Amino acid sequence: MARKDLLDIVSLDRGEIVDLLDQAIPFKDLFTRSVKKVPALKGKTVLMLFYEPSTRTLSSFEVAAKRLSADVTVFDVPRSSVTKGESVRDTIDTLQAMRADYIVVRHRLSGQPAAIARQTGASVINAGDGAHAHPTQALLDAFTLREVYPELERKRVLIMGDILHSRVARSTSTIFKKLGVEVAFLGPGSLVPKQGPQDIPRFTNYEEAMKWKPDAVYLLRVQKERMSAPFFPSDREYHNLYGITDERLRQLAGEGTYIMHPGPINRGVELCDAVLDYERCLISQQVENGIAARMAVLYGLKPQTP
Ligand code: NCD
Repeated sequence: MARKDLLDIVSLDRGEIVDLLDQAIPFKDLFTRSVKKVPALKGKTVLMLFYEPSTRTLSSFEVAAKRLSADVTVFDVPRSSVTKGESVRDTIDTLQAMRADYIVVRHRLSGQPAAIARQTGASVINAGDGAHAHPTQALLDAFTLREVYPELERKRVLIMGDILHSRVARSTSTIFKKLGVEVAFLGPGSLVPKQGPQDIPRFTNYEEAMKWKPDAVYLLRVQKERMSAPFFPSDREYHNLYGITDERLRQLAGEGTYIMHPGPINRGVELCDAVLDYERCLISQQVENGIAARMAVLYGLKPQTP
């Protein structure tokens, strides 16, 4: 891969995606060894720049970079001059002096990582920008589904929940389609956008969506922090209409359907507790695979730093 940055999935072609997924396999194999580190990025510096709260994505990138032997600096945005009104542009200019080779960015504004990428020779990795893109999440999702279905072509994934505010839905549906997976959306009419790819079936009723026979259901968190007003009356009502309830979990188990979720999960809203113990629940596999997928990305990008 001769790319400097990873900003979204749309700009990757199928070959590049498959190469990244293949590269993640030997990295994942390392995790079961007593020494989990390789020297691939020794002497390189990775800077984490998270303007939005994150636990799993930030630590996943940190672990990935360290397993490649890179030096990692977490720029503490809440305690930085950003809170004193410094612009992203000026922050980057200042950080350039640290000569980072890779900058991992999360920002609430769509397009901010792309703007940073134009300003620096460092490789910029988008760790989530607004409702736009979350490419490493998409890669780890594709990697995880491919582990259970080595032949992805024509498999069906139903993405359910708050599609409208979700960068995960956008990037993950894009990667699945590029790999030949069929995607459908399910959620309340208010949270399923009518715009966007028209070859994605859209459902507002759970039972109707199940007739489409998904091989996996991909649950999303209701992103209340991105809503100015509630989109539905209560968590309980949402759970009954669009959540995986105990009853629905029994039906999914009968069909052998896998369950995925990018985290963080909201118990009692998009899923019931029992989902976490379900044998075809892939959530913890997704977390583990996230490290391998991010190692593949860091390893594959080409910073234009001296
Ligand atoms: C997602 C995100 O931040 O976009 N989480 C994640 O990266 N693991 C999804 C979410 O916040 O619901």
